[in-house]
Amino acid sequence: MGFGNVGKELYRRLKSNGHDVSFSISNHGLYDRLGNKIDEKDGYFNSIKHIDIVCLAIPTLDDGKTAYDYISHAFDNGKLVVTCEKGALSNYFKELQENLSHLGYSATVGGGTRLLQYGKQRMTSEVTEIHAIVNGTLNYVFEQVSKGRSLGEVAREAKKLGYAEPGAESTLEVINTEANSDVPMKTAILFNVLGLGEISASDLKSNAKNLTEEDLRALIMESQNRRYIVSITKEDSKEGNNIGGFKEEVNGWHISAGFKNISENPLFMQLTVSGVNNSLLVCDGKDGINGTYKVSGQGAGAEPTTTAMLLDLESLLRH
Ligand SMILES: NC(=O)c1ccc[n+]([C@@H]2O[C@H](COP(=O)([O-])OP(=O)(O)OC[C@H]3O[C@@H](n4cnc5c(N)ncnc54)[C@H](OP(=O)(O)O)[C@@H]3O)[C@@H](O)[C@H]2O)c1
Repeated sequence: MGFGNVGKELYRRLKSNGHDVSFSISNHGLYDRLGNKIDEKDGYFNSIKHIDIVCLAIPTLDDGKTAYDYISHAFDNGKLVVTCEKGALSNYFKELQENLSHLGYSATVGGGTRLLQYGKQRMTSEVTEIHAIVNGTLNYVFEQVSKGRSLGEVAREAKKLGYAEPGAESTLEVINTEANSDVPMKTAILFNVLGLGEISASDLKSNAKNLTEEDLRALIMESQNRRYIVSITKEDSKEGNNIGGFKEEVNGWHISAGFKNISENPLFMQLTVSGVNNSLLVCDGKDGINGTYKVSGQGAGAEPTTTAMLLDLESLLRH
């Protein structure tokens, strides 16, 4: 479902991996194997009995309800689902929780890096800090700006390459959509999936500061040192110098996100990656006494996203 940047690449790779893609769906309708329109998109609800697994790659234009309805209809019919859409899992986690073993969701956070699996494996009761770069697009844009390119040009390039979330047009919109829509969704999924408590993206979003043109100018000037980082810590890190972002306290954990000055915390320096990459750093024990562990890899783009979806799909079908 969804035949855009991700859907088209997934379709191509599913076929080359020997899977039979019975139909595809865009906003305009339901299409058969030969690309002929056979029904309106709601025809999905009747066609589902003929398939094993639903792959969902539609944009989040609401709070995830559209995707949630597609997913729960599949579950009601005993089907498996693989998704890269973030709204459903970040706002309807409680409703989906009992069926998580039927849902492949690694592509929702960290693209091909599979940050969620890594984080889950590293979680012990002694973990005190988790830091993450979950938005490869913002990382790429400000890294390029720090190398002397103009913000407008790089934002346009990120859109053209399919790195940016669908829908945003101006540079400010692109940056705000990534920071205040994409990041709250990924943060909520990360927090919930790691079993730290329960938070919804809408709660985080309602606290998020909208970046202004003045903030963008400050970010351009400080692009060498500023990266968008999400931190989940036992102690309040009392950061007062972030640009944009949000803060929240849930279940004894402090969540803070924003463009942070990486020179202010050595852990941020360790976390930093280049390009459209994502990373996750887990500190085990007070001040990392049991070790500090990190994973990083490509976060945005159709190829790494479909790699994560295909791995989920094979694993769900096997089990
Ligand atoms: N691009 C990335 O790097 C990346 C990485 C990770 C996750 N994602 C997620 O992947 C999803 C898709 O991203 P994309 O870049 O592929 O978007 P896209 O290029 O805009 O494609 C979206 C597709 O979904 C279809 N669609 C929209 N609403 C629909 C609905 N209600 N029912 C059925 N189909 C619908 C659209 O149909 P029409 O063309 O007819 O409008 C289009 O085919 C998003 O949720 C995004 O957050 C993307």
